[in-house]
Amino acid sequence: MRLDKFLCDMQLGTRSQVKEAVRKGLVSVNDQTITSPDFKLDIKNDNVSYEGRQLMYQNLFYYMLHKPAGVVTATKDQQAPTVMELLSDARGKNLAPVGRLDKDTEGLLLVTNDGELAHRLLSPEKHVEKTYYVECFGVLTTDKQKLLENGVDIGDKALTHPADVRLLSQCACSYTMELTITEGRFHQVKRMIQAVGGQVIYLKRLSMGTLSLDRGLQKGAYRPLTEKEILDLKQLTNMVAAR
Ligand code: URA
Repeated sequence: MRLDKFLCDMQLGTRSQVKEAVRKGLVSVNDQTITSPDFKLDIKNDNVSYEGRQLMYQNLFYYMLHKPAGVVTATKDQQAPTVMELLSDARGKNLAPVGRLDKDTEGLLLVTNDGELAHRLLSPEKHVEKTYYVECFGVLTTDKQKLLENGVDIGDKALTHPADVRLLSQCACSYTMELTITEGRFHQVKRMIQAVGGQVIYLKRLSMGTLSLDRGLQKGAYRPLTEKEILDLKQLTNMVAAR
């Protein structure tokens, strides 16, 4: 790989900015200052330093965002702020959200430029579990709970797949629960609750596969995934063999 491409992939500037930095002698390879931007690197074995700081090559980036209500899950939108605006200073080219949360839904959103992992997590065949905390108007009788658990008609060709319901509280006219589903149909949770005569008033995603929302992450904040979180997601979707 060319040295200037490596530096661009590392988000150290535009192609012309990194070329300029190389010409100024700010970059060394294996402790030797290199002033040719087209110098050919062996990215597996060469040690590259920028202003004395060693760079580890990375072009795939993974972030966990605590999505707040009021932002849309899109890369661009004419009317509303997007989740990507909350990650405007994150490193990585072509970052995109994995799946979609409604504008009024909060919680865990994975944002990455690893297209293969995103594709696998969203693939219907992988049945990746998504758990939501849900507050609803209505009463969840045992029969309605069974419907949600076994499969409910939400107006699509097929009933929803079996889901897991943990009722947390039930008052006269409202209830809270954790709901785990393995599909990602449009407005799925809201439509499931509607199908049993309720209405969602608050929805928050708590987890997706092996990845759980970091309780220390404020609404609107994001952080990079840890190595373990990335590996667990890859193992879950069979991108790498289990340890
Ligand atoms: N189901 C919904 O209805 N909305 C979401 O944002 C996510 C799942």
